[in-house]
Amino acid sequence: MSTAGLNRSAVDTLDIGWVRGQFPSLQTKVNGQSAVFMDGPAGTQLPTQVMHAIQNYLMSANANTGGAFLTSRRSDEIIAGTRAAMSDFFHCDKDEVVFGQNMTTITLGISRAIARELKPGDEILLTTLDHDANFSPWKALEEKGVVIRQVDIREADCTLDLEDLKRKLNEKTKLVAVGYASNAVGTINPVTEITKLAHAAGALVYIDAVHYAPHGLIDVKALDCDFLVCSPYKFFGPHMGTLYGKREHLQRFRPYKVRPCTEQVPERWESGTQVHELIAGIGAAVEYLAELGRHSDPSVKTRREALTSAYRTTVAHETRLVWRLIDGLQAISGAHIYGITDAQRAAERCSTISLRIGNQHPTAIATNLGERGIFTWDGNYYALNLTERLGVEALGGMLRIGLVHYNTMDEVERLLAALREFAA
Ligand SMILES: Cc1ncc(COP(=O)(O)O)c(C=O)c1O
Repeated sequence: MSTAGLNRSAVDTLDIGWVRGQFPSLQTKVNGQSAVFMDGPAGTQLPTQVMHAIQNYLMSANANTGGAFLTSRRSDEIIAGTRAAMSDFFHCDKDEVVFGQNMTTITLGISRAIARELKPGDEILLTTLDHDANFSPWKALEEKGVVIRQVDIREADCTLDLEDLKRKLNEKTKLVAVGYASNAVGTINPVTEITKLAHAAGALVYIDAVHYAPHGLIDVKALDCDFLVCSPYKFFGPHMGTLYGKREHLQRFRPYKVRPCTEQVPERWESGTQVHELIAGIGAAVEYLAELGRHSDPSVKTRREALTSAYRTTVAHETRLVWRLIDGLQAISGAHIYGITDAQRAAERCSTISLRIGNQHPTAIATNLGERGIFTWDGNYYALNLTERLGVEALGGMLRIGLVHYNTMDEVERLLAALREFAA
């Protein structure tokens, strides 16, 4: 099954009451009104079982790893359990899962390890659509003589210009770093096609799936990418990062590490003590999604099937919400949505919308909404190349509305009513 993008005609079987019952923080009130969490692209809320897993780790397993006693063994088991959960999430082997502080820190580490093998004149291809965390770590390699090329966007719909990518890809290209989905305008990039093009040119592919992870099922086997990175705090887990790396690369490239740290894969990429309690929470976040999948389709057998089922329902739900949001926004005078607004191309976007309303400063809109209990974001959200390219950086960027599966149609209507009032 493919969840790449949103299929507008999909059947929505999401049990939204069950979903919302898992997230205590959704009961938050602001000035007497229920809070509306549309800040998901900056971090999602956590289901109860993730918080319990963190607490349980600290209460019954708190120790460093590799010791010859109970709590240390429990720590080892919990970390191994989360690695297994993430291998189902990515669809890879357990020893291809690496934990790290966050996506940015992981990418800084991987980029430096890969740079050890690069020579002046080698090229890296980046994009204008990417979050800066998949740009600056690679761009910094210019100081080693690496040539950075940048794929432009088609401004009208904020999609990657694939012709430009093909023009800039050549036999000197050693790596293509590309986002799976834009955290600003919601575009889903054709990463399978890009991976094929890159591999044909002999380049590695590093995919930033941070924004895609809450919106679609990841399958690194099907993608055949070399690395893929995401952050559990964007898919209902704690503040950490996780990486998939093809085993051969995790073995071949040389991480900056301390000598006592093992040379075993994947641990050689995890120098220093990890945040064990949060790793416990990541396992529980994957289990939450699997539980949602089982709740939606009790016939599923494996955890991977359960995750597939979960995304089938969440994608359908998010699709309904985002197209109602787009229709509603287009009816507001002066509102301009950046990105895909043609429903025929629903599969090329996820449920993240950026817009401006006339000359209103995005911070003013976000502040007004915040006072009404509606949480959105404003500015560039680190998609700095994009806001500069669109000419909105100096104007305060854009207002970002991020919908995830725990959002409701009533919340979308509440947001639209507030924006209509603001724009009037
Ligand atoms: C698309 C995308 N990539 C990378 C990042 C950086 O992730 P982290 O906060 O885990 O470093 C973010 C964070 O917002 C993001 O949205």
